[in-house]
Amino acid sequence: MALPEWDGELTSVRHDPDTGAWFVIGVHSTRLGPASGGTRAMVYDGVTDAVADARRLAGAMTSKMAAAGLPMGGGKSVIALPAPRAELDDATWRRILHLHAANLNLLGGNYTTGPDVGTAAADMDVLATLTPHVFGRSTAAGGPGSSAPMTALGVFAAIEAGVAEAGLDGVEGLRVLVQGLGAVGADVARFAARAGAKLIVTDVDPARCAAVADDLGAEVIGADDVLSRACDVLVPCATGGLLSPATAATVPCTVIAGAANNLLTEDAVGEVLRRRGITYAPDFVANAGGAIHLVGREVLGWDAGEVAARTRAVGDTLAGIFADARAHDISTVTAAGRAAARTLADGRPALGTTDTAGAQR
Ligand code: NAI
Ligand code: PHE
Repeated sequence: MALPEWDGELTSVRHDPDTGAWFVIGVHSTRLGPASGGTRAMVYDGVTDAVADARRLAGAMTSKMAAAGLPMGGGKSVIALPAPRAELDDATWRRILHLHAANLNLLGGNYTTGPDVGTAAADMDVLATLTPHVFGRSTAAGGPGSSAPMTALGVFAAIEAGVAEAGLDGVEGLRVLVQGLGAVGADVARFAARAGAKLIVTDVDPARCAAVADDLGAEVIGADDVLSRACDVLVPCATGGLLSPATAATVPCTVIAGAANNLLTEDAVGEVLRRRGITYAPDFVANAGGAIHLVGREVLGWDAGEVAARTRAVGDTLAGIFADARAHDISTVTAAGRAAARTLADGRPALGTTDTAGAQR
């Protein structure tokens, strides 16, 4: 397999003929501390796609940690499954976790994983019996529990910041469209409903739509209508790549703020949104609550109250990025990228440094 060039530090690729799974770990940067980022387990078109996804997601983690001032680098694991996770038997999944743990151990603490799409705290509990390089165990196993609630809290702070930047008067009465009602999206929908939004939701899983519609009185739309349905705030909480130059040119909304990592197919999409007057909260800033939770609890020794306060501050970080973008006539993507690049060049994140074992200095 010929791999394209990459500005990251290391790509590890392993195949398991027994299960047919491919394991990819991308360590993008250890400049600010040991790399960290979740484990994504899903079906890919092929290993080339899996490598590209791991690398791009790892790069986003570098920016996320830097923008949040966390003393960690960026990495990501991708496990390209032979079949959807729900169709794998327990023995196959256990073998996959064992092999993933062995790969993590080979990296010796230069990369620590955590949950992402297709994995959850229960999987981190299993990994933690095999390797110390894991964040996000369940509270029952002595960990800080799921990162999703804090991610949702931060995304809601991003929505509020975006709404203020767009000159709208609060979330109450706005049409808020949430795409993806998983661990994060369902919680964001709850925050929006509580704030008095007119909630519109969609998910490829009809059961998830029905549950949120019943619970919160949301209007359900088809998954294919997400880019054509007019709304005030679009909240993408499924997988990435929703906004390309073409879809960004027509998406009918005023604010975009969500959890999905790598929401834009390329950074230039930020400029398309800027020219259309759409306020875009860059994904790696808006969705930092999960990283703040995991690193805050497991590296920096914060309690739940401090994590929540730091997560709400995502709104302040975004307000600064919006102001910078406005002042210099640049996209919010460029402004956020510059802020992260300054921290990386400086080598000193706002919240201290860590050694490779994860202890704070
Ligand atoms: P999840 O797997 O629990 O939920 C994703 C949901 O999106 C599922 O309900 C799925 O059915 C739905 N979905 C998938 N494709 C869809 C489509 N085309 N249209 C509509 N719905 C679709 O994942 P989770 O944890 O809620 O994460 C959501 C996104 O946020 C992911 O991109 C993840 O990388 C990102 N993220 C998650 C964090 C966390 O703490 N869980 C932290 C930062 C980012
Ligand atoms: N996967 C989540 C994210 O993209 C949570 C996570 C953060 C997992 C940091 C591991 C480390 O932010």
